Amino acid sequence: MCTVTCIASINIAVIKYWGKRDEVLILPVNDSISATLDTDHLHAKTTVMTSSTFKEDRIWLNGKEEEIKNPRLQNCLTQIRKRARNSNQWKVHICSENNFPTAAGLASSAAGYACLVVALAKLYQIEDDITSIARSGSGSACRSVMGGFVKWCMGSESNGADSIAKQIVPASHWPEMRILILVVNDTKKKISSSIGMKRTIETSDLMQHRIKHVLPNRIKIIEQAIIEKDFKTFAEHTIKDSNQMHAVCLDAYPPVVYMNDVSHTIINFVHAYNEAVNEVKVAYTFDAGPNATLYLLEESVPEFMGVLDHFFPPGINLEQYRKGLTFKEVINS
Ligand code: PMV
Repeated sequence: MCTVTCIASINIAVIKYWGKRDEVLILPVNDSISATLDTDHLHAKTTVMTSSTFKEDRIWLNGKEEEIKNPRLQNCLTQIRKRARNSNQWKVHICSENNFPTAAGLASSAAGYACLVVALAKLYQIEDDITSIARSGSGSACRSVMGGFVKWCMGSESNGADSIAKQIVPASHWPEMRILILVVNDTKKKISSSIGMKRTIETSDLMQHRIKHVLPNRIKIIEQAIIEKDFKTFAEHTIKDSNQMHAVCLDAYPPVVYMNDVSHTIINFVHAYNEAVNEVKVAYTFDAGPNATLYLLEESVPEFMGVLDHFFPPGINLEQYRKGLTFKEVINS
């Protein structure tokens, strides 16, 4: 019997992957960039085991047995077995657990597939790039295979061989960077990212503008900002990219809506805070759900958390916020 256990964390994109040029191979229409969280926070933990006594491949997610025939899971298993360096022909049992809500727009599939592929690659002794295998499970999973800031290069080959993720910098490059996740709603999202992407690419006119005229330059700028640790530029492009992803979603027909009133309140709150302190200290970004992820530097955390607690205490009254309490008063008091 052979057993391997791995942990992989979620990643939060600052330049969003939104839209596929190949639905089967999961090839994106643009490069994307994300940061992978430390493994002690939101993560998936996966154990893979092979044994001569196992009669079939099986998988358990969060304690419940799931369908092993899931096509994306089968894609990963087939590719792993094709590239195996050892001659292990035994069936595999997979047990995976998330320490956070699944499918709530918190990138659970990214952590899950990255973890599965890393664990299987160890079991089958695969040493070369495995990000393309993780990609075939869930696109953004390829970025969770590595830590720090990671770029998923869309690639140009039709078989997807060059659609792989590469680390831009390790986490130690920018140790002051902090991520706060504000969970607005942790229930399963209504429109999956796959359906949302398909509808956007098929029906949104704005999407072409994003892909052709905005992203190529934005990718270069934000990559440079990460390398130079230029928080202001990093934050502005993170914010704009999140807003543009949700704008193209809204431009789809019928519109794809992921954010809710609380999400928009958080957006207003962050802009009001940055204005009040006269500096871009906090960036927000939203994936395919209403939850906000905030990027900020460690030095900004205590003050920002204080203001956040003041305006969003347990049982928050959003009406009061909308009436326009000013942040300057709170910060100066
Ligand atoms: O990898 P998927 O299919 O879960 O899509 C992820 C899409 C976003 O999270 C919205 C953006 C991204 O780049 O992670």
